[in-house]
Amino acid sequence: MAGKNKTVFFCNNCGYESSKWMGQCPGCRQWNTFTEEVVARSGKGSSARSARDVETVTLNSVSVEKEDRKTTHIKELDRVLGGGLVAGSLTLVGGDPGIGKSTLLLQVCRNLSSDGIKVLYISGEESVKQIKLRAARIGDFNDNMLLLCENTLSVIEETIKKIKPEVVVIDSIQTMYDEEISSAPGSVSQVREATNVFMQTAKGMNISIFIVGHVTKEGTVAGPRVLEHMVDTVLYFEGENHASYRILRSVKNRFGSTNEIGVFKMEETGLSEVANPSEFMLTGKPKGAPGSIVSCSLEGTRPILIEIQALVCQSNFGIPRRQCTGTDINRVNLLMAVLEKRLGMQLGGCDAYVNIAGGIKIGEPAIDLGIALAVISSFKNKAIDDKIVAVGEIGLSGEIRTVSMIAVRINEVRKLGFDTVIVPKVCMDDLKDIKDIKIIPVSNIQDISSLEL
Ligand code: TYD
Ligand code: MG
Repeated sequence: MAGKNKTVFFCNNCGYESSKWMGQCPGCRQWNTFTEEVVARSGKGSSARSARDVETVTLNSVSVEKEDRKTTHIKELDRVLGGGLVAGSLTLVGGDPGIGKSTLLLQVCRNLSSDGIKVLYISGEESVKQIKLRAARIGDFNDNMLLLCENTLSVIEETIKKIKPEVVVIDSIQTMYDEEISSAPGSVSQVREATNVFMQTAKGMNISIFIVGHVTKEGTVAGPRVLEHMVDTVLYFEGENHASYRILRSVKNRFGSTNEIGVFKMEETGLSEVANPSEFMLTGKPKGAPGSIVSCSLEGTRPILIEIQALVCQSNFGIPRRQCTGTDINRVNLLMAVLEKRLGMQLGGCDAYVNIAGGIKIGEPAIDLGIALAVISSFKNKAIDDKIVAVGEIGLSGEIRTVSMIAVRINEVRKLGFDTVIVPKVCMDDLKDIKDIKIIPVSNIQDISSLEL
């Protein structure tokens, strides 16, 4: 034992390793996330391989068959995965507890098993009875769907080898436990080891494995970020617990594009797909209200219309309050500074609240123009016409800059019955073929203030 075991400190948030405890993690800048773990250095993995045993191949001699993809019959998920589930892939599904990860994966299992695919659902959190109760809400399952309630890694590994399923779900990675590692389940070393084992199983046996990872705020168990780099695909579930819809976002995908999103709604009978998210995001938009405008963001390849709301009012305090949900507060501050400088609006003494309705998070600068217009509208207390949509990035000199895939966005805008769209002038070349919608090109923020909207 002596000399073999060593204690190290891991950041539960990002997996940063350090020989001593630190208050703040240098990797992810989070506080109080370090925990001590004993790392047993066993002889594992030291099988004597040398350069003599391996062979290199020329790239041209490698032949590949067409990628083997299975459909999950959930269109939103298939798209996020890049066109279906790839055989031999390891997919991480992360999200807050209670957001719907187990529910979604159970639905995936049901669809796959009714296609005749052998599926093994391994739960370390719930009993067979609890899973059955949940499954009863989702629908009927056939005998291709197998359950295992277990959290010992070696037992799971053996069971997979014995049963040979085509798809496996591990719910959740934080409950999996390797007996050879002395730290508790959910610690960084346990989570990493378990992921490693599942990765080898997925590649070795050519089966698709889903791993559920809880995002935890307290940092008592290792978060999914610790294993992001090890898996093929990372999907995150977003959404407010109180709202019924959920967004599944791909942040890493070795087999497809990233930042693709799928939109779901949590219902009594599990998650249902939202085929037209724009319509969904705009439900309840007030008519004729100052401070509200619609903009269009591109999520992956998909245009989504969103409502931006702003409330600007005189501050009662020395330092005005600025608050923002759904987009970056620094971006909003920057845009307000541009408005102040370029349009001479007296925003310095104003509180401002900006909100993307529906709780979706947008990082794209293409909604800048929408934010600016919402702020102007609220400041002047004058409503913008309900049929107008604004798209464009704003630069520091107040110039309206180009956005990507403008034609796709405008088609979506037109489809939802809007009749006017404000776009950057520099994009006009791409819009020659667009008909049936009024296009207002703007090149500078000053152009906006001269428009009668
Ligand atoms: P769950 O999938 O257990 O979340 P996670 O695995 O991410 O922790 O989701 C649980 C929530 O979803 C719970 O609050 C109940 C709700 N729910 C429904 O509203 N309808 C349903 O059909 C199911 C199965 C769950
Ligand atoms: Mg769960």
